[in-house]
Amino acid sequence: MSTIDSILRETRVFEPTDEFKRKATISGMEAYNQLCDQANEHYAGFWGELARERITWKKMFTRVLDESTPPFFKWFDDGVLNVSYNCLDRHLAQLANKIAIIFEADDGQVTRVTYAELYRRVCQFANGLKSLDVKKGDRVVVYMPMSIEAVIAMQACARIGAIHSVVFGGFSAKSLQERIIDAGASVVITANEGMRGGKAVPLKAVTDEAIGLGGCDGLRKVVVYQRTNHGCAQWNDERDIWWHKLTEGQPETCEPEWVNAEDPLFILYTSGSTGKPKGIQHSSAGYLLGTINTMYWSFDYKPNDIFWCTADVGWITGHSYVTYGPLAVGATQVIFEGVPTYPDAGRFWQMIETHKVTTFYTAPTAIRSLIKLGADLPNQYDLSSLRLLGTVGEPINPEAWMWYYEVVGKRRCPIIDTWWQTETGSHMITPMPGAVPTKPGSCTLPVPGIAVDIVDESGAPIEPGKGGFLVIKRPWPSMVRTIWGDPERFKKTYFPEEFNGQLYLAGDSAHRDENGYFWIMGRIDDVLNVSGHRLGTMEIESALVANPLVAEAAVVGKPHEVKGEAVVAFVVLKKSPESRDEAQQIAKNLREWVSHEIGALARPEEIRFGDNLPKTRSGKIMRRLLRSLAKGEQITQDVSTLENPGILQQLQEAVN
Ligand code: WT7
Repeated sequence: MSTIDSILRETRVFEPTDEFKRKATISGMEAYNQLCDQANEHYAGFWGELARERITWKKMFTRVLDESTPPFFKWFDDGVLNVSYNCLDRHLAQLANKIAIIFEADDGQVTRVTYAELYRRVCQFANGLKSLDVKKGDRVVVYMPMSIEAVIAMQACARIGAIHSVVFGGFSAKSLQERIIDAGASVVITANEGMRGGKAVPLKAVTDEAIGLGGCDGLRKVVVYQRTNHGCAQWNDERDIWWHKLTEGQPETCEPEWVNAEDPLFILYTSGSTGKPKGIQHSSAGYLLGTINTMYWSFDYKPNDIFWCTADVGWITGHSYVTYGPLAVGATQVIFEGVPTYPDAGRFWQMIETHKVTTFYTAPTAIRSLIKLGADLPNQYDLSSLRLLGTVGEPINPEAWMWYYEVVGKRRCPIIDTWWQTETGSHMITPMPGAVPTKPGSCTLPVPGIAVDIVDESGAPIEPGKGGFLVIKRPWPSMVRTIWGDPERFKKTYFPEEFNGQLYLAGDSAHRDENGYFWIMGRIDDVLNVSGHRLGTMEIESALVANPLVAEAAVVGKPHEVKGEAVVAFVVLKKSPESRDEAQQIAKNLREWVSHEIGALARPEEIRFGDNLPKTRSGKIMRRLLRSLAKGEQITQDVSTLENPGILQQLQEAVN
């Protein structure tokens, strides 16, 4: 990659308020720097002490970090624990009657569960899974709507040592089938349907369709949580079982399965630039430690907080900051079934008022859409309970940041812009809110103990102001352990030869300013970030080419006001459309097709047809050129290597 000079010049700086700083876990820059120095000087000692303090162990570890077979690092590996025990049992003495979850349904109905109730329900469901012969190490796919039950399903897996793999409810039957097969899952947990924005999402029907596609040979059981009064279109008596039947009469306690620190807690699939989605495998202890640390450090967690992370449990954010982090620290959290714009764009603000939310964590795409639908709406609600705001998923543009800061946080609440990834398990770069002054658009400085750097092609550090590859120089506890079933791909993707296998390559480009603040610039690979979610261009291309009308396809991203990036597809049809009407009809069908093949997130915003794609003489698609075309830019690139220059004109015009 050639170095990119940044065009961003943001000079506004916001100090934490004295009030916030005084009570903060990490109070002031001195405290922050001290922690960073400690980690630097005694890396193993630093993490070891945290792991001893913050995790309840069945058997204490004696080794902190094993680096003998890089990049397959092991943390606390002779320690024994159970993650669900850490999220539930250990709170019962003090917090049995504390509310663990305030669940607000799509239609506004509120359900509260205490830690004691949640414990009972997780135990009952865990016993139910055991009765289906689910054992330690077995894979269980969770395809659920946002619900208390989704958290119970995940916690129950953790309790019995089964490895969950949550598939976001917006993914298609095809995507679900691929994940069931790749994980070798024996059980799927789903719901008859979910409710989002007043509409039913037919999860069980999609599950039936996924299984119907074939190849799910290891799958024995489908557990169905009844979310609505509707039944299921299909029911297989041998395979399907209702959640309430499964848990009926089950004992309300369940001895946890004690697992090793390095035993996998879960797999979560994420897109890469090439090939099929990668099953990111996380550990038990290291992962748990990452989520707990960042609850205290980044979110400055306090026992009276009402914590609300709006992410779906289908993404890593929902794993770390809905299912695990908040429960591990004994927090009260809000879980929301619906969407931010239903019944209107005041829903988030109204919920913050009703539940007296103190800590609110959402995505830039949601913020942008809410600004658009009602920049003044937050002023109609009492948001005085808020004390901290967070964002995640993509760079936040400084203007959206300022709005969040002023209109939502009333200039009182620090904003933590958290940079991290499915692979990192927990926050990597984000301001410690009682210490690090913020700048709109920058994720600022690393979390204590995380060794982030920016390097050039050869792995050499880059000077401030210049763009380069974002890397992490030392293993950290909550890091990805491997790609499920493909350790070679893990090595090649994240610890490439170019850097002697020594650096973790995040896949983002970034630069640092004169204060050492990090500014994320975007992906360096062919991965799109649509509404804060990663989509591989190749996945979408494969889906398009699988359509009988399509000969060839190339997909790129273009900037989008609300989504951040939108999908633009360049498509060569086997038979040219005869009229503009026909072209438009085909484009419409192809959009539906991609939605059906992958999920609505991947639906192309724009489809352009041509007789060919711009290629080099050696046959490589010129993606850079396509990106310029998608943005509507004048073509200034060198097109002398282009085999068929006439094609550019066509692709410029053919917008559908
Ligand atoms: C990619 C990871 C981990 C949370 C959800 C996304 C982008 C994430 C930020 C941020 C700029 C960000 C990066 C990263 N990203 N957070 N605060 N500022 N970019 O998880 O699907 O694994 O995607 O999201 O490009 O590599 P993910």
